[in-house]
Amino acid sequence: MKDPSIRRSVTLFRAFMREQQDPEHTYTLLARDAADQVERYVPLKDRVVVDIGGGGGYFTEEFRRRGAQSYLFEPDATELGARPPEGTVLADGYLLPLADGVADVAFSSNVLEHVDDPGTFLSEMVRVTRPGGLIYVSFTNWYSPWGGHEWAPWHYLGADRAVNRYQRRTGKPAKHTLGENLHAIHIGPTLKQVRARDDVQVVSARSRYWPFLAGAVAKVPGLREVATWNLLLILRRCP
Ligand SMILES: C[S@@+](CC[C@H](N)C(=O)[O-])C[C@H]1O[C@@H](n2cnc3c(N)ncnc32)[C@H](O)[C@@H]1O
Repeated sequence: MKDPSIRRSVTLFRAFMREQQDPEHTYTLLARDAADQVERYVPLKDRVVVDIGGGGGYFTEEFRRRGAQSYLFEPDATELGARPPEGTVLADGYLLPLADGVADVAFSSNVLEHVDDPGTFLSEMVRVTRPGGLIYVSFTNWYSPWGGHEWAPWHYLGADRAVNRYQRRTGKPAKHTLGENLHAIHIGPTLKQVRARDDVQVVSARSRYWPFLAGAVAKVPGLREVATWNLLLILRRCP
């Protein structure tokens, strides 16, 4: 599907709405979409791709379908599901059991908002990427309408209130706790931090899911914190 386009965004949005009932469909579609995004910069065939914090492994499997040697690194065994890809490694993104520069592509989808030190997490992604290699990072920022994850959009009224409301309405505990496994990350400071690095070049900074003006929306301070929804950063490791 053409990216960006209204058809693609509507299809992804519909899949997200069915995520609880049909995660297989949602994540297979999202993985295909993300692989298409990577392939705009580098063909996946025969490349080494590390998927960091890849959950159930849908992205790793899609990269493999396209001919990549792809490996999943996931610290939480409960996220792996019943059938993790063969060769999956239980490992934290802060300290990957990989030599410097082994990956053609380091990939992380929707992980940065779940780590309390995004700078260190990014440094580890850069370390394992070869000079000239690609780094794909996307995250949902705090002021995004989806920033509070399962308790969104009530996070705009404060995390405590949103969590309490979620528990009252659903009768089950929330998966995410602010400051523990979900962190308030913002687009402006993250872009500033990444642009200040001398080991990566920012190739693209755009909204991951927007149907139009995906790059423009990420450029406007203030507005971008609410309107971008999810920031996609494409970085190139400096030689
Ligand atoms: C919202 S899920 C995203 C899963 C998948 N990447 C996707 O886009 O569907 C966040 C993932 O980040 C992982 N995660 C959290 N902290 C991490 C860390 N320090 N290193 C690597 N992964 C981490 C979680 O275990 C979880 O699988």
